[in-house]
Amino acid sequence: MTEAKIAPSLLSGDFANLEHEVGRMLHYGSDWLHVDIMDSQFVPSLTIGPIVVKAMRSHFTQEKAFFDCHLMVMNPEKWVDEFADAGANMFCFHYEATEKHMEIINRAHERGMLVSCAVKPDTPVEVLDPLVQHLDMALIMTVEPGKGGQSFRSECLPKVKYLRTRHPNLDIEVDGGLSPKTVDAASDAGANVIVAGTAVFKAENPTQVISELRNSVLKAQEIKPWAKK
Ligand code: DX5
Ligand code: ZN
Repeated sequence: MTEAKIAPSLLSGDFANLEHEVGRMLHYGSDWLHVDIMDSQFVPSLTIGPIVVKAMRSHFTQEKAFFDCHLMVMNPEKWVDEFADAGANMFCFHYEATEKHMEIINRAHERGMLVSCAVKPDTPVEVLDPLVQHLDMALIMTVEPGKGGQSFRSECLPKVKYLRTRHPNLDIEVDGGLSPKTVDAASDAGANVIVAGTAVFKAENPTQVISELRNSVLKAQEIKPWAKK
């Protein structure tokens, strides 16, 4: 059984105070920290790169903080070594951003990272079929990548169900518009890794939101709705 993991997205945090933001998210009970890397080509925005991951890593050991790095960049193959050197735990690249899928997966594994491949809302999930046996995780985007605070797109969830029915032990992450209101649909489809930016960072009680997100996954895993016809 895949474990429930909650990954607050630092994109909604205070970029001038990332050590504090990582520390408080860990204190609130988050499992992973989701780090959104944008290059102004694959998506319009420009955020941070490996230098910032490295700076965060210098404050938190590998055991303490798991950095789930979501690269919304063209040609992610250029960045595998730098993210490994920076101390990233998960190297998540977009299917649409490269043709060198297997090269990236192999190199990231060689460098000791876990690897995930992400698909945008309009990309069919079947593109992952040849890759999935080599992946540690798949990321089904539930918004168009590029910014936080967008509305959750439930029409992406059949892709989660497609993967879950075929791969009971794969980590399946959803990202975009997740909150206590929308998470049940994603959990019921089979997602076990939940990214949440706005919902956690803007919450009055982030501990409670993280716990609600986790409970949604745990509840769905008891019932296994995806196993039903
Ligand atoms: C969007 C990013 C997300 C974003 C999610 O391109 O990949 O990780 O931070 O933010 P919310 O949870 O606010 O939709
Ligand atoms: Zn993301």
